[in-house]
Amino acid sequence: MEQNKDLFEHKSKNWDMNSIRVRNAKEISDVILNNIDINPSMEIVDFGAGTGLLSYFIAKHVSKIIAIDNSPSMLEEFRAKQSEFACETDIIKADIMKNDLKLSVDGIISSMTMHHIEDIEALFLKLFNMLHKGGFIAIADLDSEDGTFHSDNEGVYHYGFDRKMLTNIAKEAGFININFETANVIEKPHAKFSVFTMTAQKNV
Ligand SMILES: C[S@@+](CC[C@H](N)C(=O)[O-])C[C@H]1O[C@@H](n2cnc3c(N)ncnc32)[C@H](O)[C@@H]1O
Repeated sequence: MEQNKDLFEHKSKNWDMNSIRVRNAKEISDVILNNIDINPSMEIVDFGAGTGLLSYFIAKHVSKIIAIDNSPSMLEEFRAKQSEFACETDIIKADIMKNDLKLSVDGIISSMTMHHIEDIEALFLKLFNMLHKGGFIAIADLDSEDGTFHSDNEGVYHYGFDRKMLTNIAKEAGFININFETANVIEKPHAKFSVFTMTAQKNV
């Protein structure tokens, strides 16, 4: 059943005004562009695209971005700046885990969304099936943390991720060339939180 509560409703309007978030998305996009052979004919998915911070930085390098998100309020912000994206954009309001989206794309990007998804094994299988052969994933999220990154952990299923654990899950799903790079360190008054970007490929 589709989750009805929009967990980002109270944050969406000001989401892009937080310079830490914008910088984080920029750092992640730099790692993606340095590690993936992105080309201007590519059609890619951004899952948990939110207001489009990561999509925005990748847009000028691809032909089309399909933004998937289950928060109507975050997608409203994405839609409001849709004309500013340098590539074609499609918006799909859906829970990536609960909908059979029947997409076949060249790549999948994501930032700071995976910790909101409960079943990570099922997620990687889903991503694998959404890719053409040779397609890539580039997923950024927090390294393992102590549960204090968010002030409210509603909707947070994972306190970051262990890189070895994710590597094993990705291998099981069929991915190859699995790599991690630290994209950013987010400094909060009480602690520092590192953000990885994981890249991998579907076998050709
Ligand atoms: C922390 S925000 C990150 C937004 C954006 N990627 C960024 O970096 O600014 C997480 C986003 O993932 C979305 N999300 C969470 N679970 C989802 C799911 N199962 N399917 C689709 N979107 C989801 C939320 O609605 C939210 O917009």
